Amino acid sequence: MKDNFGRDISYLRISITDKCNLRCKYCMPEKGVSLVEHKDVMTIEEYIQVAKVFKNLGISKIRITGGEPLVKKGVVDLISGFKNIGIKEIAMTTNGILLGDMAKNLKEAGLTRVNISLDSLQEDKYRGITRGGELQKVLDGIESCKKYGITPVKLNTVVMKDVNIDEFRNFVDLTKEDDISVRFIELMPIGEAVRYKDRFVSNDELLSLYPELKPIDSMDISSPAKYYKLPKAKGNVGFINPMSCKFCGTCNRVRLTSKGQLLMCLHSNIHIELLKPLREGKDIGKIIKDAIYNKPEAHHLLEGEYNSTDMNEIGG
Ligand code: GTP
Ligand code: 5AD
Ligand code: SF4
Repeated sequence: MKDNFGRDISYLRISITDKCNLRCKYCMPEKGVSLVEHKDVMTIEEYIQVAKVFKNLGISKIRITGGEPLVKKGVVDLISGFKNIGIKEIAMTTNGILLGDMAKNLKEAGLTRVNISLDSLQEDKYRGITRGGELQKVLDGIESCKKYGITPVKLNTVVMKDVNIDEFRNFVDLTKEDDISVRFIELMPIGEAVRYKDRFVSNDELLSLYPELKPIDSMDISSPAKYYKLPKAKGNVGFINPMSCKFCGTCNRVRLTSKGQLLMCLHSNIHIELLKPLREGKDIGKIIKDAIYNKPEAHHLLEGEYNSTDMNEIGG
């Protein structure tokens, strides 16, 4: 359905858990976070029930996020459930650690695409950034996705000074022989990441490190990424500036958290409760319709409005 500004809202991002099997330094504190109580978390059946209502309102793509969505019990059934109600595109953003073991079942259930977060191609550094993650598992996960046809794979990389900027060109070079997208995301100073704000690297700075990259037409106008390519490369390279307002005008997405709160913008503090009315048997279709119609035109970061919810709860 269209919002008040004529944008067609067709993409729902659902964070199905705030838990994660990694502790990336810019995302989660070492001890983890205070997790949402079990009774306050949406069940697999409730996600499917809500997705059905969204589908009737014009949602054709669902992206499952986290925390880490693959640690959620029932994730494969959730994907089959979305497929059975007729959702055309079912994607996921994951850290990839469990993909090696799960890709086959995920594909059979109906998962169409994955975006994999990967900030280093060096074992020791990866272990450091993620506080214990095993790089080989992610690499195996990427291979399994190719083997079972969950393609094209996109990698998401947050580049930081004195952390992984030295690997920028190596990441870009992955696209030479492989049909993958490597996307660089500028660090957002939200939650834990505030402590790393001095390590921020802009997309422009990165581009200057690889002058052979040439802009290409965007494959999807509502995507937050601006795409480039190396001459003759099989894959492409994307740059995401999540703080700019550049894609607000074509934004096609809304978000749902595992507590059942609807977020109309990544950076907005307005949360609309869906779980309580759903459990009370109320007409959530009307609540969602009103919320979509009133989706803010753009974020208000410059005026100081930040989302106070942590990234592991919003799902990016
Ligand atoms: P595709 O479906 O492959 O286009 O994926 P995506 O870019 O929508 O999803 P992904 O989960 O891979 O997000 C990549 C990065 O883009 C994350 O860091 C998000 O925070 C950021 N991002 C995604 N959607 C938005 C948005 O609506 N606004 C802003 N500012 N950033 C976003
Ligand atoms: N700034 C930018 N990107 C972030 N991500 C997590 N926290 C931040 C942040 N503060 C990224 C993850 C993942 C994507 C969904 O969001 O690395 O790839
Ligand atoms: Fe987990 Fe993703 Fe946060 Fe890393 S960035 S701790 S993988 S939720």
